[in-house]
Amino acid sequence: MSRIVYVNGSYLPEEEAKISIFDRGFLMADGVYEVTSVLDGKLLDFAGHAARLERSLAELDMACPVTMEELLAIHRELVAQNAITDGMVYLQITRGSAGDRDFAFPDPAKVPSSIVLFTQSKPGLADNPAAKTGIKVITVPDIRWGRRDIKTVQLLYPSMGKMMAKKAGVDDAWMVEDGFVTEGTSNNAYIVKGGKIITRHLGSEILHGITRAAVLRFAREAQMEVEERSFTVEEAKGADEAFITSASAFVMPVVEIDGAKLGTGAPGKVAVRLREIYLDESRKSAI
Ligand code: PDD
Repeated sequence: MSRIVYVNGSYLPEEEAKISIFDRGFLMADGVYEVTSVLDGKLLDFAGHAARLERSLAELDMACPVTMEELLAIHRELVAQNAITDGMVYLQITRGSAGDRDFAFPDPAKVPSSIVLFTQSKPGLADNPAAKTGIKVITVPDIRWGRRDIKTVQLLYPSMGKMMAKKAGVDDAWMVEDGFVTEGTSNNAYIVKGGKIITRHLGSEILHGITRAAVLRFAREAQMEVEERSFTVEEAKGADEAFITSASAFVMPVVEIDGAKLGTGAPGKVAVRLREIYLDESRKSAI
């Protein structure tokens, strides 16, 4: 099925959309991205994703080729043109193509950034059956670069992490640095002990998840106790429950870490409750 995608100002069938072979996103992974979910045809937390995008671009001295109002209009147009009820909108901005390969950044006044967006239709996204059983993870060393707070398209190691998980017969991997869990391959990681929600504090070691911010806010509003600090793999294995958050998984229970079952091996009640609250509240504020 052919989608309508957006590339540098045009809406085109995906087969006709083209980017230069000299685009720095392709040659250097010199680009940033965002993933926004769609439920009932509406965007979840667009403002959060737009704000993080602006921060990622600023950290890399990259120009944004559109305003945030234009970006919202493009998201909505793609959702409409592709008749997306539930799914995702993927957006990527790169430093463009200077017409040759060169390590030095081109002059942004002469070389515009490239921008592409496309949709993925995922009917029943909020009813993912995995949320009923929970997922299993392994731990892998975190060997990514030091600016994981910038949402760059350097996704080779996260892809390798997913493949290691697949090979091990589980669903995902949590990354570990100096004995502490940083985050999942494409999500933030949490444990729950004695009713307290523990997740790594913000810093350059993890992506500042938009879902994380919303979930922690909802948890605090519901009088749940939240502690933002590092935790070890051993502490995680001994936790009552665990979960991950991301724009595509929302809140997803984790029931096993490196083969160690958490609690009863079923999704924990904190994760289940937070998933419900998150989905309810996000649907209400979706635009
Ligand atoms: N991934 N940490 C990493 C490394 C991520 O790639 C993501 C998102 C998150 C969660 O961020 P958010 O809640 O804003 O989605 C944390 C997206 C979904 C992806 O790459 O598909």
